[in-house]
Parts: sequence; C-alpha cells; structure tokens
Amino acid sequence: MDRYLVFGHPVRHSKSPFIHTLFARQTQQELEYGLAEPAVDEFAQALRTFFDQGGKGCNVTVPFKEQAFTLVDRLSPRAKRAGAVNTIKLTDDGVLLGDNTDGAGLVADLKSHGVTLADSRILLLGAGGAARGALAPLLAELPSELVIANRTHAKAQQLAAEFHDLGPVTAQTYELLAGPFDLVINSTSASLQGELPPLAPALIHTDIAIYDMMYGASDTAFIGWAKQQGARQTMDGLGMLVEQAAEAFTVWRGIRPGTKQVLRELKRNLGVI
Ligand code: ATR
Repeated sequence: MDRYLVFGHPVRHSKSPFIHTLFARQTQQELEYGLAEPAVDEFAQALRTFFDQGGKGCNVTVPFKEQAFTLVDRLSPRAKRAGAVNTIKLTDDGVLLGDNTDGAGLVADLKSHGVTLADSRILLLGAGGAARGALAPLLAELPSELVIANRTHAKAQQLAAEFHDLGPVTAQTYELLAGPFDLVINSTSASLQGELPPLAPALIHTDIAIYDMMYGASDTAFIGWAKQQGARQTMDGLGMLVEQAAEAFTVWRGIRPGTKQVLRELKRNLGVI
C-alpha cells in the first residue's frame, strides 16, 4: 500500500492522519498515512530513510519546513517563494519534489467563507514563516493593498520588499496603521502564549473579516478579542489545515478531495461542534 506521513516535532497531536485517511476513503484511494517525530537533528536522515523504504510522499510541519526546503531535489515555484516546504512528493522518475500548500490552503478557506479578496484592503499581522507562505497566494487574488505589520518592523519591511514585484504590498508599524481594512489575517504565534498582537481596537469594525491561522477547541485569544471589539465574521485556521491537506493530497494523487464533510468531522473530533 502507498505510504505517506507527516514529519514534525512534536507531532503526536497532528490531525493530518485523520484528515488524509478521510480523504482516501472519500476518493477510494488505497493508502496509509502515519506520523514521524524524529529528533530535531535527525530529520534529514529520517526523510531519506522514509523514501528509501518506499514512501510516496510526506507532509512536513514545525520545526522542519525550512530544512525540508534545502533537502528536496526540486522546488515548486510557490515553495521557492515561501522559503519552506510542507509537502514532498516522490515523482515517477525518482525526483523528490518540494511544494508548499499552506498559502493556497489559506486562500481556499477564505473563499469558502465567502471573503472577497479582489480589490480588498488586507492587513497581515506577523512576518515569520507563516506570513511568508501566505503572501504570494494572497497577492495573486489582486487585493487593492496588502499591509504587513510586525512586532519587529524590519522583518515586515524585508518581506514587503521581497514580494513587491507580485503586487501592492507595504510594511507599517502597529502604531501607525491606518484603516479601514476589509480583512485582518493573524499569522503571528502570539495566540500560542495567550497573547495578542498590539493592534489598536479602533481598527476593528463590524464589517471586517478576521482570520487567525491558529485554532483551538475554543476561540483563540485574537478571535476572542476581535469579537469583543465588535467583529462579526471571525475564522480560525482549522479550515486552512483541511484545505492545505486537500491541496497536498491533490499533488500526490492527482485527485481533489472534497473538504466540507471532512472539516465537519474534524470539528466533531475536536469537540468544537
Ligand atoms: P511562524 O513560522 O509560525 O510564522 P515564526 O517564524 O517564529 O513562526 O514567526 C512568528 C511571528 O509571530 C513573528 O512575526 C513574531 O514577531 P517577531 O518577528 O517580532 O518575533 C510574531 N509574534 C510572536 N509572538 C508575538 C506577540 N506576542 N506579539 C506580536 N507578535 C508576535
């Protein structure tokens, strides 16, 4: 049977096996999908061993995405832009192809929630790996403006300069942000520590769409805060997780699984509904 897995550390709580097993059942593909948690300095060896032993493809998550970028034979254009790899496929001619489906997953999830990106003013919070992966797919949707704000402003400036050729992207400090924005995407890891990015409450209005790439069984700190400020449309990163997985599954198997039912089952599994 064709074998796939996700590399991460820690990875025990990953939902990827659950999601891909449902995709396989739905599309009648024969495959198995597992977990691998190599020591941080043993990822390269573990990856080699997996493919030497007949593995067909894998996902890569924290903290291995940047390392995976350097280990594959070939990069997709979107992985090259993201500077990170979350999906690897062994091609029929034996080449390890590195891809990145995170940004496509974000855009697909935003669209599935009915969020309009074309001609919109987008605020992206954070300038780490998650922001980098989102930039090219967001700019491809032709927003009127995309502003990056980050605690360390120089990193936002550097990202804006790097993606400037793809669209109207600029950097601004949190203090000097000027609204109104149609959509705020939180790519920071602040919610992990129960913290908030230092965003002025006045930037949140009732018609703004709020997206947090993080997710949990209850509202993330950022979503809870945005709701308190009056935001009516809030979305967490669970949908992005399922959509990036669907994109990876499509890369591997050449067949696109449906995501609606799988997202519903995942929510049930997490106790969200
Ligand atoms: P990831 O790969 O998830 O993007 P990362 O590359 O470590 O992780 O980036 C984390 C991002 O969250 C950074 O933009 C970080 O800001 P700095 O560049 O200033 O470090 C941001 N971040 C983390 N904790 C934060 C907090 N409490 N408030 C605001 N931003 C925070």
